[in-house]
Amino acid sequence: MTKETRVGIVGLGYVGLPLALRSLEKGFKTIGVDSDKTKINKIKQGQSPFLEEFIERRKKLLKKLPVFTDAKNLKKVDIIIICVPTPIDKSHYPNLKPLKNAVKSVINNLGKNQLIIIESTINPGVCEEVIKPMFIKEGLQEEKDYYLAHCPERIDPGNKKWNVSNINRVVGAISKEGLKRALEYYKTIIDGKIRPMKSIKAAESVKVVENSFRDVNIAFVNELAQSFDQMGIDVKDVIDGAATKPFAFMAHYPSRGVGGHCIPVDPYYLIEEAKRKGFDHLFLRAARKINNYMPFYTVKTLQDILNEIELPLKNTAIGILGLSYKANIDDLRESPAFKIVDELKKKQAKISTFDPYAKKESNVNSLEELLKNSEALILVTNHQEFLNKEDLFKKFNIKAIVDGVNCLDGEKIKSFGIKYHGIGKF
Ligand SMILES: NC(=O)c1ccc[n+]([C@@H]2O[C@H](COP(=O)([O-])OP(=O)(O)OC[C@H]3O[C@@H](n4cnc5c(N)ncnc54)[C@H](O)[C@@H]3O)[C@@H](O)[C@H]2O)c1
Repeated sequence: MTKETRVGIVGLGYVGLPLALRSLEKGFKTIGVDSDKTKINKIKQGQSPFLEEFIERRKKLLKKLPVFTDAKNLKKVDIIIICVPTPIDKSHYPNLKPLKNAVKSVINNLGKNQLIIIESTINPGVCEEVIKPMFIKEGLQEEKDYYLAHCPERIDPGNKKWNVSNINRVVGAISKEGLKRALEYYKTIIDGKIRPMKSIKAAESVKVVENSFRDVNIAFVNELAQSFDQMGIDVKDVIDGAATKPFAFMAHYPSRGVGGHCIPVDPYYLIEEAKRKGFDHLFLRAARKINNYMPFYTVKTLQDILNEIELPLKNTAIGILGLSYKANIDDLRESPAFKIVDELKKKQAKISTFDPYAKKESNVNSLEELLKNSEALILVTNHQEFLNKEDLFKKFNIKAIVDGVNCLDGEKIKSFGIKYHGIGKF
């Protein structure tokens, strides 16, 4: 691994673009390839296609990153890292098409002795049972013509402390030589621990297990929020109490549902693979069901508090604060906001939406405009722009608020005579 080592990143999204900039700043001759022309043009102009602090701080580097739509540029690199999406379809079934297409374009432009690393999240078995056979079909042999490794990405968009430069990683590969090379690369670019895994399957499993762990724990508190609502117990208070135990408890908090490209997606990769191998992941399926229900529970909560003031949901003006799945970022993927909006539409409420990070997708232009139009609110995203606005809610005569992430001052809101309910918090 020298500074002459050339690196090609395929897929310049939330995962691939920060990685490409990190590789470049560590001195590797790095290029990027993405099938999205608009994205490539933006990067060429030195603009990030999405909001991410890690990239904002490296904006000057963007223009120095050679980027292409044509995969033939990968022929001359030594390491290819694939960071394309691995989504699910409408029936929650894993969709490996983007990954297979990316691998196909790599195979079609294969150089000599290249190390191919998959960073996309995949279920155990994809590298050996889906990707390797694609090479075999073209008469290409691992260790002779290429090396295959997997290093699942753990990036957390919007996280100010942890980013691609310092998050520990795990690496698995098919051959010893592939593992050695991949470890060497990541040890050079990352200021963190790089753990070799016993097998490529074990490396694939790490990421789906991490996100299933999150999904299950969040589902547990989301379920508690619903049962404690029935019992009149504030679940946030209970969790904060339990969190005073210095060992064996890890606080997770309920909300209007999970979003993003990881937690609502990755558990299905494990569920489906296990099903193929004859095992039914009851626990994971239950977690998915509970978390998928939370946007509907949020609407139900609004309906309940509106009933208390004799306002029907039908024809009442509801303002949705936030569309992205997480605070202070513009990522809308799998956001519970859209399920909430659809459910409210079904119930014939009048809806205004505003997200300062997704103005194009909002139907009003400012928080003030939204408040002017609304009788009741659902706070979906705890963007900084929505915090400490309790006085403003009073000024605009809001009658009821559902706090979908339990981030507002409920006591203050209630003291204004506004109906308030969080998710398991009141
Ligand atoms: N977003 C996250 O927080 C996160 C965190 C960890 C892991 N991951 C995983 O990383 C992978 C990528 O996620 P992302 O969030 O960066 O996705 P993304 O949608 O932001 O970016 C993927 C990019 O790949 C491009 N692309 C798709 N098919 C291509 C092809 N055949 N050739 C070239 N480019 C292609 C798309 O145009 C897009 O720009 C997924 O498997 C995801 O599960 C994501």
